[in-house]
Formats: sequence, structure tokens, C-alpha cells
Amino acid sequence: MQNNETLLKVEHLCQYFRSGSFENKAVDDVNFEIKKGEVFGLVGESGCGKTTTGRSIIKLYNITSGNVWFKGIRICAGIRSYVDAIERAKADFKEKSKDASPDEKAKLKAEMDAIIADNQAKIKEAKYDQKKCDKEYSDKLVAELNEKYQPLIEKARESEKAALTAEYKNALYKAKRTKLVTQIQMIFQDPIASLDPRMTVREIIAEGLIIQGERDQKVIDEKVFEMLELVGLVREHASRYPHEFSGGQRQRIGVARAIIMNPELIIADEPVSALDVSIQAQVINLLNELREKFGLTILFIAHDLSVVKYFSDRIGVMYFGKMVELASSDELFRNPIHPYTKSLLSAIPLPDPIYEKQRKRIVYNPLAEHDYSVDKPSFREIAPGHFVQCNDAEFERYKAELK
Ligand SMILES: Nc1ncnc2c1ncn2[C@@H]1O[C@H](COP(=O)(O)OP(=O)(O)OP(=O)(O)O)[C@@H](O)[C@H]1O
Ligand SMILES: [Mg+2]
Repeated sequence: MQNNETLLKVEHLCQYFRSGSFENKAVDDVNFEIKKGEVFGLVGESGCGKTTTGRSIIKLYNITSGNVWFKGIRICAGIRSYVDAIERAKADFKEKSKDASPDEKAKLKAEMDAIIADNQAKIKEAKYDQKKCDKEYSDKLVAELNEKYQPLIEKARESEKAALTAEYKNALYKAKRTKLVTQIQMIFQDPIASLDPRMTVREIIAEGLIIQGERDQKVIDEKVFEMLELVGLVREHASRYPHEFSGGQRQRIGVARAIIMNPELIIADEPVSALDVSIQAQVINLLNELREKFGLTILFIAHDLSVVKYFSDRIGVMYFGKMVELASSDELFRNPIHPYTKSLLSAIPLPDPIYEKQRKRIVYNPLAEHDYSVDKPSFREIAPGHFVQCNDAEFERYKAELK
């Protein structure tokens, strides 16, 4: 099912949270791509920025800097780095021009103006892309509908024309309201907090459809029933409230709410970590079935490598806002390179008493492990498709280790 088409591209993604003078680099220069049909696992300990990455992709934040591309269209573009560059240029000018001669001052000003103009152009372009992406997508849907309905209506018998025209108009109404980003749906980490307790299951599942302009109650009900059955619940559940369900069932409701939008990409944010171990497998199996049925692409977030191992084609490991290693699932388990990945692997218990007896937890201590005082790290390809965050010295050492 997987092919080489890149569905999602995350490029130098930064999301910094500012509180007072403190800046929390929750996501710091993260890069990865997800191919169509692929399951990409994103792993790392609590607070390393996994959810923030997911929420940035679905445009819940104005990202600090970087870009997110979906189907080749830029859906997120950070402008803060450009704004900062302008502010820096202004401050620089003020500083340097203090004692400058008029000639020098004119030159400095020209330099500053050039930087400002360049960054203003980037801001304009980024804003335009962010807005344009939805319009471009709905224009495409409208064009498809025109192509489908106009000849149909022309050829239709007089008696059918009115009904067909109404159908066409209704479809147009929806297409004009459809946003590209609804093709990316997120299943949220906490199945309790993410479902509004005052809404019935029907209302929760149908919400996205209604926002998108579906007005036909019969269509909505049928869709909701279909989704409930798809995720292993029953129609009678539609009129109940979230608190009447178990954790596993609530997560199924979350899955139904996402799938009803007919998404291409699902961001599943630790969909099973709040659940009993016995229920975890059921929800994973459900996701796997849906993946096959609809050709879904999944960004699967977990803090534990054991959950993603069998499910993911490729895995990215995050540590404190940075992606430290990225490889195919097999490669990562066979040849882990970054000490943090090794430490995560050492935490996985295996149902093998002999192994368990010998198993030693490796503790990752970045200060003891890396000397980045002079030789700075970057994210580098150490073997085909295998990337590691490392500096020059480490690059050589890791390469030798791989051999
Ligand atoms: N809306 C926010 N405002 C300010 N800081 C935030 C916000 N959301 C997250 N953070 C901070 O960003 C960092 C990353 O948080 P994030 O929720 O992305 O981690 P996570 O990897 O999903 O962790 P977990 O496994 O616990 O879900 C944390 O330090 C967190 O406190
Ligand atoms: Mg999280």
C-alpha cells in the first residue's frame, strides 16, 4: 500500500513557548517526512514535544518557524523567525550607527532595509500560503463537482432536474467550506478530557461533518451509525454521553470522530497509553484494520518503543524537543545508534526470563555523553535512511560502530 509519494513533510519545525523571559523550546528544528500509506512512530519520554509536534501539524499553533507541507501544499509556515530577524536588524543598525559617519550610516541603513524587505516578503508569502492552502483545496473540490454535475444536469430529464440541481448546490455548499487541513485528523492523548461531557456521542462524532456544512440530518445519522459500527460500537450508543463508556470505548469514539472526516492522515497521540494493557491491543488492532481498509497514513505517537515496534514502518525518536534518531523500525531495533535510543530500548521488558535477568537499564546522561561545546551537532544520515543527531566526531565514531 505504501508508495513513494510524500504525504507530509515537516521542515525545520520549531515551536517555542514563551513565558516571561523564559523560552521553552518544546519542538526545536524537527525534520521528517511521512510517505503515503506509512505508519510513522514518534517516540520519546514525557515532555519531549510529541504532542506539540502533532498539534503544530494540525495548525493548532502559529508555529515559531519552519514549514509543514501536506500533499505538496504548505499548510503551516512560521513567521516568528522572520519577525525576529527584522527586529535584530533594527537593533543592529541602532547599535552600529551610533558613532558612524553619515556615509557609513547610509550604508548600514541600506543593509538594514534589505534585510527588512527580504523578511517582509517571506512573511507575506508564508501568510499567503497558510491562507491559500484551504482555498486552493476547496477550489479543486468545486471544480470536480462542476465537472461531475453540470453535464448530468444538462442531460437530465425535466422531472429530475430540480432534485439533481439541489444535490449539486448542497455539495457545492459543503465543498466551499471544506478545509484541506480536515484531511489530517488527530486522535487525542486523553480520551476523557478530549470528549465534551455535555455532548452525546452522536454530536461528538458528527461535529466535524456539521462544521463542514452537512445539513441533512438523515445523512448525518447514517454516517454516525456507520462509524460506530466501524469502530466496534453499536448504533444505540449514539444517544449516550461519554461518561457512560469505558476508556477503551471512549478511545473508539475518538477514532470514529476522526475517521468520519475521511482523512488521509491520522495523528494518533498516545491513543493507548491511558488504557489497560488488555485493551491496548484491541485499539491498536482497530487502527491497523482501518489503516488497511482506507489506506490511511498514520503518525503514531508513543512514549514507549514497544508499542510502536510492530506497528510502525519507520520510527523517529525525540529528546527534549529534538529529533535524535530516525530509521526504519527494523533498523532502529537492530542498530540503534544514539545513546538515548539505546536507553529507550533497554527499558523494554521481554517475555524471556533469561534476558530479563541480564537486562540492564541504560541511563542516558546527555552531559556525560556528548561534548558539543565546540563541535556542534546536526541531524545527519549515517546509513541510507538512518539519521542521527551528532557532531563530526560522533559521526565518525557511530559510523565505525555500525560497521
Ligand atoms: N500550550 C502550551 N503552553 C506552554 N507550554 C507548553 C504547551 N504545551 C506544551 N508545553 C510544553 O512543551 C513541552 C512539550 O510538551 P508536549 O506536550 O509536546 O510533550 P509530550 O512529548 O507530548 O509529552 P507526554 O508524553 O507527556 O504527552 C513541555 O515542556 C510542555 O510543558
Ligand atoms: Mg503528549
